[in-house]
Amino acid sequence: MKEKTFVQNIKFKLPIFAVLATCIWIFAGKAGFPIWWQIEFVSFALVGLIVFIILDLPALAPEKKNRDWVVRLLGTYAVGSVLFISITNQLPQFDPQVEIDKLNKPPIKIEGLAGPEVIAAGRVVFEENKCFNCHKVFWEGNSDRGPNLGTKQIGLYSEDYIKKQILDPRYKQSPGYEDPKSKKAMPTYYGEDLDEGQLTALVAYLKTMRDPTNIPVEGKYPDQWTWWDDETILKEGEVVFNGLEPATEGLNCSVCHGKDGIPMMTGALDFRNGENKDTDKIPGDHYEGPLKDWPDELWYKRVTRGVPETPMAPWGTIFPHLYLWKAEAYARTFHDPLDKRTEKRPVPPVPTKEEIERWKTEGLFLDPLL
Ligand code: HEC
Ligand code: HEC
Repeated sequence: MKEKTFVQNIKFKLPIFAVLATCIWIFAGKAGFPIWWQIEFVSFALVGLIVFIILDLPALAPEKKNRDWVVRLLGTYAVGSVLFISITNQLPQFDPQVEIDKLNKPPIKIEGLAGPEVIAAGRVVFEENKCFNCHKVFWEGNSDRGPNLGTKQIGLYSEDYIKKQILDPRYKQSPGYEDPKSKKAMPTYYGEDLDEGQLTALVAYLKTMRDPTNIPVEGKYPDQWTWWDDETILKEGEVVFNGLEPATEGLNCSVCHGKDGIPMMTGALDFRNGENKDTDKIPGDHYEGPLKDWPDELWYKRVTRGVPETPMAPWGTIFPHLYLWKAEAYARTFHDPLDKRTEKRPVPPVPTKEEIERWKTEGLFLDPLL
């Protein structure tokens, strides 16, 4: 019998391995094994392939001296060991001590902690309870199963609302998450898992999730939209604008800007004309473009800070910004009615770490934050 050449050796083995490996990968994936297990199963098949290739290799020349078989034996052992060690080294390691430390960690205490420390503690609670498994926070996190709590700006909502959503996630369904899977996704056991202190810290952390440069974004990635195009928000904004929202009692944009957009006060901006210009009464702070092109940041700044020495007061120092964003979204409809829009406003890119730092250093947030 003739020895096989290397090509003959692998001619059938390689395709068979390829088919087998694919099947193993797919079946293991379908059966719900984590990716590292899938890799391990396929590696195991690869070991089989190597064994069969070795079996079919041409026989080595007969050993002449004792030294030869010692070298071959140790050589084989060394190759095997190096292979084994270098491959297993690449696989994720499990350190029992890390897991034990996690279990033994003392519960978070928030009594006596100052604001930033409570927020930092809340972030730890968020991480440890695997919230990141489903929720992104701006650029951070690894899944879009639930809303990005950063771009949704959960921090605009009241502490009570946020707390309620954590304890009873079915209380109010997030827009865009109406499919049955998403409805039931968020666990309902956090009320039992978190003590009062942890919950307070968690809410303090979530309250920091706001963006002074973009209006909130709703929906499930990649099917998302901004509040500018959200029918429900525009209806709520109309209520705020007309002074009928109980949470912003005393605020009524329509007394000056007009219920139908016709200004009731001379000088108040006419929202019906998208070509209108930004105020020129704030030295060093003027935007050139027409009203219809105003960036979100400008809307937010003007409405929260007002125009000094005019009746346009800094409403953001008195009323929760949650409602001001809604009123702004509604104000736009006077020159850009919802039913005439041919396309939605683009969803802004998710703010980066650097941008978030900039908001803090450039004082884009008001103090105190409502
Ligand atoms: C298994 C996935 C999953 C985990 C884990 C999870 N969530 Fe959620 N969460 C969701 C989904 C999906 C929604 C949207 C559907 C809904 O409203 O129930 C949601 C909604 C929310 C909302 C409401 C947002 C809104 O629209 O008002 C908050 C707040 C929230 N989650 C916070 C948390 C916090 C805090 C944790 C960790 C303690 C957490 N979630 C863990 C999936 C998850
Ligand atoms: C008491 C009257 C009054 C109320 C209430 C009021 N505004 Fe104004 N608003 C004005 C006046 C006057 C101006 C023009 C300021 C100026 O001279 O530049 C103005 C200007 C604005 C501008 C344009 C700022 C600029 O850069 O030119 C926006 C946007 C605006 N208002 C939105 C709102 C919204 C939204 C509300 C309700 C939340 C509101 N206003 C409530 C009087 C009012």
